Amino acid sequence: MSHAEPVKVEVGLGDRAYDILIGSGLLARSGEEIARRLPGTRAAIVTDENVAAAHLDTLKAGLQKGGIQSAVITLPAGEKTKSFAHLEEVVDGVLAAKLERRDVVIALGGGVIGDLAGFASGIVRRGMNFVQIPTSLLAQVDSSVGGKTGINSARGKNLVGVFHQPRLVLADTQVLDTLPIREFRAGYAELAKYGLIDRPAFFAWLEQNWGQVFAGGAARVEAIAEACRAKADVVARDEFETGDRALLNLGHTFGHALEAATQYDGARLVHGEGVAIGMALAHRFSARLNLASPDDADRVEAHLRAVGLPWRMADIPGDLPDAEALLGFITQDKKVSRGALTFILTRGIGQSFIAKDVPPSEVLAFLKVSHPR
Ligand SMILES: NC(=O)c1ccc[n+]([C@@H]2O[C@H](COP(=O)([O-])OP(=O)(O)OC[C@H]3O[C@@H](n4cnc5c(N)ncnc54)[C@H](O)[C@@H]3O)[C@@H](O)[C@H]2O)c1
Repeated sequence: MSHAEPVKVEVGLGDRAYDILIGSGLLARSGEEIARRLPGTRAAIVTDENVAAAHLDTLKAGLQKGGIQSAVITLPAGEKTKSFAHLEEVVDGVLAAKLERRDVVIALGGGVIGDLAGFASGIVRRGMNFVQIPTSLLAQVDSSVGGKTGINSARGKNLVGVFHQPRLVLADTQVLDTLPIREFRAGYAELAKYGLIDRPAFFAWLEQNWGQVFAGGAARVEAIAEACRAKADVVARDEFETGDRALLNLGHTFGHALEAATQYDGARLVHGEGVAIGMALAHRFSARLNLASPDDADRVEAHLRAVGLPWRMADIPGDLPDAEALLGFITQDKKVSRGALTFILTRGIGQSFIAKDVPPSEVLAFLKVSHPR
């Protein structure tokens, strides 16, 4: 099958700058792209069982074509894999394959594999080369770019990790054809997020073209490329999240509270669905605080509904804890500074900002009117 040239987006981090290539059929040319940047390298591929079944052979053949030998470490799929035990397994596998510092760890998978393999590559031999080959939509538009890596602790998600930037990101849009539709939709929430943060024209484009993004082809490539441009911009401005990078948390404060309130039970709510509901709530909350027009909140809700994403708390199956308990999850997740909460709020579509002075009483009153009971 012939494929158009991939779109290239650069993450501008000086001597650690790297390319994100977005296009259909990139697994097949992975060896060529990696060998060009890392001549003479050998590789350890870290993947999960679902992704291995669908895409590992294509990747191995692609690497071989570029003269790259690879060892493979296959792990169970799912969030629980982001653990100390699996980190040890990956570290041990890389060392057993006798890889050196200049060799490369390749993450072939969604955000779970990317975060875990990235962390392992950041600590084995004090930091090895790392290449991200994201296979979920969420990973292609978000987690594979920016260098945040890590695992979960019994005390919470993503609490142990390092910043370790990849040398290359290969986002093969064709591999998304095997992604379950629910996971695709969840990733779409993060894609739409960039429009809502500061790219209103992109949000308007998605309102018109989302069907084609779901179908595949050029619109999918273009949407993922635009999301990567947005993420790359933020990361280049604020690599270590001391400022602007926090805007990427739009929808995440409410979303994380809902994930915690449903005990991270993916059958009820997956992360991107929590973000979708969280973005709708952030817009509705902003309207309630007279920061934005209710019409904008209507628009966000209508779009999420159109693509089949949940957009309100009532869309989550089963009972939710009451508004006070939900506020408890929010204050547990966030630092409370002098009695005020930090939220990403908005003045309208594409006009999000960091609000550091949100009174918990306002949040509680809003949760009471938004709650399904
Ligand atoms: N590092 C960051 O900046 C960052 C940002 C956002 C999220 N994350 C992390 O990302 C993780 C979530 O990522 P995710 O949603 O990709 O989850 P995931 O890695 O668990 O993938 C979701 C599911 O889809 C399957 N899958 C992935 N690609 C597939 C494909 N092409 N075909 C068939 N099945 C496929 C996986 O096996 C898994 O079952 C969380 O752990 C989150 O903390 C990290």
